[in-house]
Amino acid sequence: MGKSISGFIILFVHTFLLISAIRASTDTLTPGQSIRDGDLLVSADGSFELGFFSPGISKGRYLGIWYQKISAGTVVWVANRETPLNDSSGALIVTDQGILILLNSSKDAIWSSNASRTAQNPVMKLLDSGNLVVKDINDNSENFLWQSFDYPGDTLLPGMKWGRNMVTGLDRYLSSWKSSNDPAQGEFTFRIDPRGNTQMLLMRGPKILYRTGTWNGYRWTGTPQLEPNMLYTYGFISTATEMYYKFDLINSSVASRIVMNSSGAAQRFTWITRTNSWARFSAVLLYQCDDYALCGAYGSCNVNKQPVCACLEGFIPKSPKDWSIQEWSDGCVRRTKLDCDKGDRFLQHGGVKLPDMIKSWVDTSKGLKECKDLCLKNCSCVAYANSDIRGGGSGCLLWFDELIDTRELTTGGQDLYIRIAASELYNIEKNRSSDKKQLGIIVGTIITIVGVLVLAFILYARRKKLKKQANMKTSHLQNYEDEDQRKEDMELPTFDLSTIANATDNFSSRNKLGEGGFGSVYKGTLIEGQEVAVKRLSKNSGQGLTEFKNEVILIAKLQHRNLVKLLGCCIEGDERILIYEYMPNKSLDYFIFDKKTRNSSDWRIWINIVGGIARGLLYLHQDSRLRIIHRDLKAANVLLDNGMNPKISDFGLARTFGGDQTEANTNKIVGTYGYMSPEYAVDGFFSVKSDVFSFGVLVLEIVSGKKNRGFNHPDHHHNLLGHAWRLWNEGMPLELINEPEQDSCTLSEIIRCIHVGLLCVQKRPEDRPNMSSVIVMLSSGISLPQPKQPGFFTERNLPERESSSSNQKSFSTNEITVSFLGPR
Ligand SMILES: *[C@@H]1O[C@H](CO)[C@@H](O)[C@H](O)[C@H]1NC(C)=O
Ligand SMILES: *[C@@H]1O[C@H](CO)[C@@H](O)[C@H](O)[C@H]1NC(C)=O
Ligand SMILES: *[C@@H]1O[C@H](CO)[C@@H](O)[C@H](O)[C@H]1NC(C)=O
Ligand SMILES: *[C@@H]1O[C@H](CO)[C@@H](O)[C@H](O)[C@H]1NC(C)=O
Ligand SMILES: *[C@@H]1O[C@H](CO)[C@@H](O)[C@H](O)[C@H]1NC(C)=O
Ligand SMILES: *[C@@H]1O[C@H](CO)[C@@H](O)[C@H](O)[C@H]1NC(C)=O
Repeated sequence: MGKSISGFIILFVHTFLLISAIRASTDTLTPGQSIRDGDLLVSADGSFELGFFSPGISKGRYLGIWYQKISAGTVVWVANRETPLNDSSGALIVTDQGILILLNSSKDAIWSSNASRTAQNPVMKLLDSGNLVVKDINDNSENFLWQSFDYPGDTLLPGMKWGRNMVTGLDRYLSSWKSSNDPAQGEFTFRIDPRGNTQMLLMRGPKILYRTGTWNGYRWTGTPQLEPNMLYTYGFISTATEMYYKFDLINSSVASRIVMNSSGAAQRFTWITRTNSWARFSAVLLYQCDDYALCGAYGSCNVNKQPVCACLEGFIPKSPKDWSIQEWSDGCVRRTKLDCDKGDRFLQHGGVKLPDMIKSWVDTSKGLKECKDLCLKNCSCVAYANSDIRGGGSGCLLWFDELIDTRELTTGGQDLYIRIAASELYNIEKNRSSDKKQLGIIVGTIITIVGVLVLAFILYARRKKLKKQANMKTSHLQNYEDEDQRKEDMELPTFDLSTIANATDNFSSRNKLGEGGFGSVYKGTLIEGQEVAVKRLSKNSGQGLTEFKNEVILIAKLQHRNLVKLLGCCIEGDERILIYEYMPNKSLDYFIFDKKTRNSSDWRIWINIVGGIARGLLYLHQDSRLRIIHRDLKAANVLLDNGMNPKISDFGLARTFGGDQTEANTNKIVGTYGYMSPEYAVDGFFSVKSDVFSFGVLVLEIVSGKKNRGFNHPDHHHNLLGHAWRLWNEGMPLELINEPEQDSCTLSEIIRCIHVGLLCVQKRPEDRPNMSSVIVMLSSGISLPQPKQPGFFTERNLPERESSSSNQKSFSTNEITVSFLGPR
């Protein structure tokens, strides 16, 4: 970094400098002054610094801007990215016309800015935002002659416009560096694409790798992770002259930036003061489904399904053979041809990322009804949707080409209406719902003047045909399964049942560690002496062998220091056994609710445990390529290693149990009383936010040393959540803990934990933060919003289903996981 080279030494090396040099701690350069290698320009509040540097192992010298107060060395902008200086003889000057020029030792301009107008008294200034501007010294407006924010490199800073000015033709986009040693423009770009309806495209050369989808008023249709948070505000501005995305920090002392690295990964980082490092806040291209057009035309991608690709309803694989070996690029075709003259229908798909917009058409003045009519009238229109989903929806989007890159989202998706043959719609509706009335209406519109007898006959014939189709489907599946077994490429070690039986002394009760809804856990010792935890799954998963194997392989790929490691499995006959690493310190509930261990433990340990669980959960929710919702996070499912580091166990199991549970709404509820969010326990609706709720309960339990369920207090009938909320509102959050004699530094962290815990257990899922926000909230000093009322804060709100859980045997102090059919 240029900073490390002393400016004085360089001063002697230079021979050609006639004009006076600038010294550090000024933010302005005027005509007649210069900045030479070794000099630094620092913004008024010290946030950013401008100077010369050499990236990585490069010997070239570049003029750039980097963070100064924090993270010195994180470069955010480079002037001469294509033309490095060979030596440290460069100098930056500003001309009387307000042009910036970078000169090499023979005084040739190797880089320069430009300006469309001149000013009386131009100066160059480095602003606290990191923007390098040329302006008139007397003009304090944002009317700059030139600004570096108009020419971004790989980094988007707060306040930068990411997009286009249609009048000047200026296109501000991110472009990757060639490598970490070379800031020249690399292969990857991430930019606004104005074709059809505007969206952002991440490209490698001319090839699209990822698209965000169009702006729907709240966010890009494919970025459900973009939601109001404590760190920054954001928006997409589209006028007749400009269209751009921009974000602004809520608290300017908490830094955040988006950067696209030289392998094309676009990520948002946030500076964490406590650890003195950048933490990844969000990213694109994390999931397989982010890959552009993965499932081909009329396909739809779902990260929670295996395989991830499926045809949209009413469509079938174009080449079933390719499709069965997971080669999806050919996509799907209509099962039934459209018949525009006789009248087609539209099938509603809820919760999707809208398909590619490059050949779409938009009219923001039209409503959904007019939109449908417009689409129906034009035989080449294949789908329609609202362009803005705020306030019940408005605007009209029409598609005139194959539907590409549709994706199903667990949260934040929107409705898409796909044109489909009338007879096809009839089939699908019949499958989807057995509502006789609805069926009657649909059938009635197809066959208008046909008598009741004919109707009945048709119904009968259809059912027969459907049955046949269903049979065909099963035989196809069977073929697939056979093929899969032949491949038999399990990357996960498999164990013989006899080995496991030996290791656990034939599953003896002496070796039993616990029991939960998915089965019993035993301690085992393999012949080599390695200790393992053996989970013998109960025999009610109702899942096929291949499916189970696929799931286990997927789970085994999830690796994170805060997740228990899966070592192998054993599948023999009816037996399905998972072998995990053994955790000598048992589970968290054993520690937090035990008076003795509590009193002898340092608070640091508890705070570290909270942070570790948060990171493990974030990995499951966001950072792994599978999006896993744990659904049974509780103290008993967090194990502790020798160093008291928490490791989440039983993740991914809810996924493997019961086919319908990958839907966002399930009628089989798996979870534990006291940890279940209201929307999940009552309506069976789950999302990452239900895990956030459980996490909040766990945090409050860790801090207080009390169980949420079964909590009682002489003054009221609230459970732990209600108690914590009451204390919070009374301004006495520290009353929640037993051991208040802490130093003030730890106390503020404990209060922060309580605050975050209360935000996580808020009643409405949309009020709860997601896990990436939780991590930022726990580890930085940003101000947090006031928590609203928690869900289930009195015991009485709980569905009284005690009987269904007390039937099962309980071992150790674990609370049992319950499985029951929830109310529908
Ligand atoms: C670096 O040196 C080479 C010759 O050694 C020259 O061609 C090139 O223009 C120089 N680059 C700059 C930016 O001065
Ligand atoms: C300065 O840059 C010019 C143009 O790139 C080049 O021709 C010249 O050789 C460079 N001078 C030195 C000393 O590198
Ligand atoms: C300024 O320079 C850039 C390249 O650095 C160029 O694309 C742009 O058209 C120029 N603008 C004007 C007003 O000359
Ligand atoms: C870019 O970021 C991705 C994701 O964090 C990482 O895997 C990759 O190694 C990075 N590439 C470089 C060149 O640093
Ligand atoms: C249907 O829409 C396409 C695309 O906008 C247009 O080119 C075509 O003329 C339209 N056809 C009719 C019959 O309006
Ligand atoms: C902004 O953050 C800093 C440190 O992280 C904190 O001290 C300050 O109080 C915050 N300001 C506001 C307005 O929240």
